[in-house]
Amino acid sequence: MSLPSSLKPCLLLLFLCLLNVSTIKSKPLTQETVLFGAKFPALYVIGDSLVDSGNNNHLETIAKSNFPPYGSDFEGGKPTGRFSNGKTIADYIAIYYGLPLVPAYMELSEEQKNNTSTGINYASASCGILPGTGKQVGKCLSMSVQVDLFKETIDKNLKKKFKTQSELSKHLAESLFMTAIGINDYSFFYNKTIDANDFATKLLHEFLIQIKRLHGLGARKFFINNLKPLGCYPNIIAHTVPRGSCDDDLNLAVALYNAKLRRSLSHMKQKFSKTSFLYSDYFNFMLGLRGPSSNHASSNLMNSTSPCCPSVYDGGVLTGCRANSSSCKMPNTHIFFDPFHPTQLANFMYAIGCFQERKICHVVRD
Ligand SMILES: *[C@@H]1O[C@H](CO)[C@@H](O)[C@H](O)[C@H]1NC(C)=O
Ligand SMILES: *[C@@H]1O[C@H](CO)[C@@H](O)[C@H](O)[C@H]1NC(C)=O
Ligand SMILES: *[C@@H]1O[C@H](CO)[C@@H](O)[C@H](O)[C@H]1NC(C)=O
Ligand SMILES: *[C@@H]1O[C@H](CO)[C@@H](O)[C@H](O)[C@H]1NC(C)=O
Ligand SMILES: *[C@@H]1O[C@H](CO)[C@@H](O)[C@H](O)[C@H]1NC(C)=O
Repeated sequence: MSLPSSLKPCLLLLFLCLLNVSTIKSKPLTQETVLFGAKFPALYVIGDSLVDSGNNNHLETIAKSNFPPYGSDFEGGKPTGRFSNGKTIADYIAIYYGLPLVPAYMELSEEQKNNTSTGINYASASCGILPGTGKQVGKCLSMSVQVDLFKETIDKNLKKKFKTQSELSKHLAESLFMTAIGINDYSFFYNKTIDANDFATKLLHEFLIQIKRLHGLGARKFFINNLKPLGCYPNIIAHTVPRGSCDDDLNLAVALYNAKLRRSLSHMKQKFSKTSFLYSDYFNFMLGLRGPSSNHASSNLMNSTSPCCPSVYDGGVLTGCRANSSSCKMPNTHIFFDPFHPTQLANFMYAIGCFQERKICHVVRD
């Protein structure tokens, strides 16, 4: 998959919006249109740095991105705490569904929380599904805490916004709940001495507990992203032999989790009536961007091995972009903005692949 580097994401964005309108109008209400063509009143986001929109700005941690060059292409070039030069996949999903970009929970005042019914983002960089994940680098909101905060949003804010219980239930049942979380559990706790199957089973068990909690709170529509091919990310391939090749064992371990996740969602679909799941194959999307060969992305016009910044790895210690780093002049000629996160253009291509081509995202059937 390749795009000319001169392609302007903003023009494509316009196209994406038009596409959305035409999808909504024509089709009958099938499983397909329930998730692809629907109008959702709100988007609630549970996740990690892939979709954090500013929560970590307010937490004591080194996992932050609220300084330049982050955000250089975001609405006038302002860093927001998004780990990219521009929009995240959560932003593109909101745009596709005609919703405002979802504000970070920690950025909202109590008054704003009382007045927000189009969705809140609880995602927190460095965190994961297991409670210990990410705590090595500072504070963050693990998945169970994110669900706790969502429950608090219902009890303190949404119950006030919606006059009756049935109005509130309707809002929750019609809203979209997106998740993108779990890869940091691999980053911090998985290694070759651990049984990949056991690890995946345990992690998925914890993930499903939180999905069931969300269901118990009234969520009925889920947009579940699987886990990225961590073994091909710049922070990993800087250490592989030969340098730049993917860590296939790590990718296999993650793929095992993804396969189990996919099956579990089918089972859940059978168990829960009136519940829909959209499964997004983020793993294969990112592998596809890397190109057909696992060592060289020769046909690809985007640089798929080196992040935009830092341009040079600092003695093997891989950090994100340094503040005011000037190394990253043309972010959208890269797939990765920093060693852990994609550029806006990669995120935009995800939206095209998911919503237009429908290659990445699939409705889960029972
Ligand atoms: C928000 O709503 C709660 C009630 O749900 C109320 O106690 C609180 O004072 C409100 N806060 C603001 C700032 O309006
Ligand atoms: C509440 O939200 C509405 C619509 O988003 C906005 O027009 C209004 O100014 C907000 N009110 C407060 C008190 O924030
Ligand atoms: C692998 O992970 C386990 C559990 O987190 C840890 O106890 C062990 O020291 C790790 N081994 C290596 C080689 O890093
Ligand atoms: C990617 O960028 C790095 C650093 O700027 C450069 O060394 C490398 O050759 C580039 N790779 C490709 C395939 O363009
Ligand atoms: C980065 O640049 C901005 C704007 O020029 C400045 O306010 C900030 O202090 C700089 N940060 C660092 C760490 O140099």
